[in-house]
Amino acid sequence: MRNPKTVFTVGAACLALFTLATTENSAQTPQTFQGSNIEEFLSRAKITGIKDIGLGVTLPVKATLELEGVKGYGVFKTIDESAKTKQLDRGIELEFQDSWRTEVAAYELDKLMGLGMVPATVERTYDGKKGSLQFWVDSKMSEAERVKKKLQPPRTFEWEEQVARLRLFDNLIYNTDRHLNNLLITEDWKIRLIDHSRTFRPFEQLKDQKQLTRFSRSLLEKLETLNEPLIKERLGKYLTPYQIQGLLKRRDAILALAQKLIGEKGAGAVLYR
Ligand SMILES: Nc1ncnc2c1ncn2[C@@H]1O[C@H](COP(=O)(O)OP(=O)(O)O)[C@@H](O)[C@H]1O
Ligand SMILES: [Mg+2]
Repeated sequence: MRNPKTVFTVGAACLALFTLATTENSAQTPQTFQGSNIEEFLSRAKITGIKDIGLGVTLPVKATLELEGVKGYGVFKTIDESAKTKQLDRGIELEFQDSWRTEVAAYELDKLMGLGMVPATVERTYDGKKGSLQFWVDSKMSEAERVKKKLQPPRTFEWEEQVARLRLFDNLIYNTDRHLNNLLITEDWKIRLIDHSRTFRPFEQLKDQKQLTRFSRSLLEKLETLNEPLIKERLGKYLTPYQIQGLLKRRDAILALAQKLIGEKGAGAVLYR
């Protein structure tokens, strides 16, 4: 994070957010949703209002944010639970965790990989409670609504590549909660991934390896650059050593799977840009 007193940075943040506020419904202008300006806004803006969202189980709230005349919205989540075993509707889960901490970790990992799908998320304290504050995405629908309305994305190829990217990410972070309401779609059909409070299990194996059939070259290259010191530096505040070990083992498993499939089917069938 840059020095919060840097006037230029604040100006840039304001400009970015002002642009955002005035163009949020334009299909031509992609919404800025990641990066240091947004992070700074989330970290420094005053929380001027809090509203129930009325969706979900961890009951995050929608926060109205204001910084130097610029207004925006965020999702504030404070849940922080863990248990060796937890009885859920779908059965018993081992090494259960539901925490705002992994919301921040998921965003930091997205940035390390150049994934470009998780909205900016920072640690924030409000009303005496620590939590995650995530930038509010202007979406036109959730994946659940798209499926219900049987809408086809306009550029199938691009859509499938986005889905392959998110599946790689979900296997990497061992996400136990990627249901259709946790995937938002923007006006220009970009996927935004939300709700990462049930992720980063300490397990070494992939959650759903069958999902991984095609791989982005650039994501694989980034995966190769991940190492323990780097993960500790960027995510260490939010993950336990066991969670970091699990993450690195799953990274190895994804790279090995990609090599195996390339050997069997050829690079052309397995890799895309
Ligand atoms: N960054 C975001 N931008 C826009 N809407 C969001 C965002 N995060 C959460 N929401 C909305 O709030 C709902 C609940 O948030 P979520 O993080 O999924 O909580 P839960 O863990 O309780 O499911 C989501 O289903 C979505 O409708
Ligand atoms: Mg949810």
